[in-house]
Amino acid sequence: MNKKINIAIDGYSSCGKGTLAKELAQALGYVFIDSGAMYRAVTLHMMRLGVDVADEAAVERALEGVEVGFLNKGDQPAEVTLNGISVESEIRTIEVASKVSEVAKIDAVRTKMVALQQAIGLQKGVVMDGRDIGTVVFPDAELKIFMTASAAVRAQRRFAELIAKGDDVTLEEIASNLAHRDQIDANRENSPLTLTGDYRVLDNSELSREAQFSMALDWVNQAL
Ligand code: CDP
Repeated sequence: MNKKINIAIDGYSSCGKGTLAKELAQALGYVFIDSGAMYRAVTLHMMRLGVDVADEAAVERALEGVEVGFLNKGDQPAEVTLNGISVESEIRTIEVASKVSEVAKIDAVRTKMVALQQAIGLQKGVVMDGRDIGTVVFPDAELKIFMTASAAVRAQRRFAELIAKGDDVTLEEIASNLAHRDQIDANRENSPLTLTGDYRVLDNSELSREAQFSMALDWVNQAL
C-alpha cells in the first residue's frame, strides 16, 4: 500500500498518546513526532537562561536563540534536540513539566513550533501527538484520534514512569501537575485542546496496550 496519510493524536496530559503514536509509526513505517517534546525543549532553554516564563516578552526575546530539531535514531524514535544537542532525558522532569504549559500558551512559541511541525508533515507518513495537531497543525489529517483516560490512571502511569527513572516525585505532585497543565492547555486562547467532531475518541482507562493499538490500526486501515 503506497498511500501515506498523516495521523494526529491529541488529548490530555499523560494518557498514552506517545506510546500509541510510536507503535503506529513503527508498524506503518511512518515518522513519529512528539510535539510536546518541542515545547518542553523550549521550556528547558528558558529555564537554563533563568527566563521568567510568566514574562511573555522575555520568553519571546529568548526564543530567538532557540533551534529545536530532531536527531534521527534509525529504527528508534527520533530524539528532540535543543540547539543541535539531544535533550531527550532533560525535558522529562517534573521541573520542566511544571512550566511547559505557561510557555506553550505564548503565541510566538506556538507560531515557531507549528511552522516546524507543518514542514515535517508535508512529506506525509507522519504520526504526531500533542494538543492541537488535528485542529491547527494538520487540520487535513486523514485520521484524528483524541485520547483520554481517567485522571487517576494517568497520574499513576506518569508516576510509575518517573519513579522507574529514579526521579524523586510523589503521586500527589504528579496528579496536581497533570490537572494544572490540562486546565491551561484546554483553556488557553491560542489553539486550546478541543475535542471536535472530526476525532475518533479512544478512552484507554481500561484498555490494554494491545487493545488500543488494534483499535487504532483498524481506524488507520479505514482511512487508507
Ligand atoms: O507527555 P505529556 O502528556 O505529559 O505532555 P507532552 O505531550 O510532553 O506536552 C507537554 C506540554 O506541551 C503540554 O502540557 C502542553 O502545554 C504543551 N503542548 C502544546 O501546547 N501543544 C502541543 N501540540 C503539544 C504539547
